[in-house]
Amino acid sequence: SDVRVVARTGSTNSDLVALAAEGKAAEGTVLIAEEQDAGRGRLDRRWTAPARSGLFFSVLLKPTGVPVERWGWLPLLAGVAMATGLSRSAGVDTALKWPNDLLVTVEGAERKVGGILAERAGDDAVVVGIGINVTLRADELPVPGAGSLALAGAATTDRDTILRTVLRSLEQWFEKWRSVGGDPAASGLQDTYAAGCATLGREVRAELPGNTSITGEAVALDGDGRLVLATAEGVQQPVGAGDIVHLR
Ligand code: BTN
Repeated sequence: SDVRVVARTGSTNSDLVALAAEGKAAEGTVLIAEEQDAGRGRLDRRWTAPARSGLFFSVLLKPTGVPVERWGWLPLLAGVAMATGLSRSAGVDTALKWPNDLLVTVEGAERKVGGILAERAGDDAVVVGIGINVTLRADELPVPGAGSLALAGAATTDRDTILRTVLRSLEQWFEKWRSVGGDPAASGLQDTYAAGCATLGREVRAELPGNTSITGEAVALDGDGRLVLATAEGVQQPVGAGDIVHLR
């Protein structure tokens, strides 16, 4: 596929969404920056990392034949692909924190090593943006709770090798999922996500849009990719968006 490398930009997601809108990027286009000045994360957060310390890239995907109600699985699919790719290339075991953070364990503590920001690009496409902390040392970590592949004992921190392996895994998962009309069960995505998810089985607090929160045990992932919480009141509450805090 078409892989474009830029030395420096604000946000590869913003750039690729704009290129797609202008008809200047075909399906499968990958845009990668060596350095990103205004990287964006979920929930209006920022993604910051020193130049060349990680992978900052975006991929344009067209889920042709997949009903739009199922497109919400794409960021979860990207998380599964990242986990597979990082295990194969760097030999690092990662866990998924719902919905799409990737965690590593460093000295017994869970730390965020990667994240995904999926954004619509017009009617027929989605830009999936992936950030991975690769070489960062402890004193270079941008925020508390962050980690890196290097700190997790990666067998390699060669960014090209890691990128290629993650992209191959993303392509395989995407084709598998699209070929069954985005069905999360038939593609194996739902089970694979659940098997790799550190949130399931944990006591969590879901911080919801509008300053409310729900606390409960994360017991399942439903067919729409929502996290189902069992609350102390005995209610099963699906959570579709928001921020999850692992309590224990
Ligand atoms: C998150 O953890 O909330 C998601 C972080 C996503 C960061 C990546 S880096 C490449 C791409 N371009 C962006 O501006 N964001 C994503």
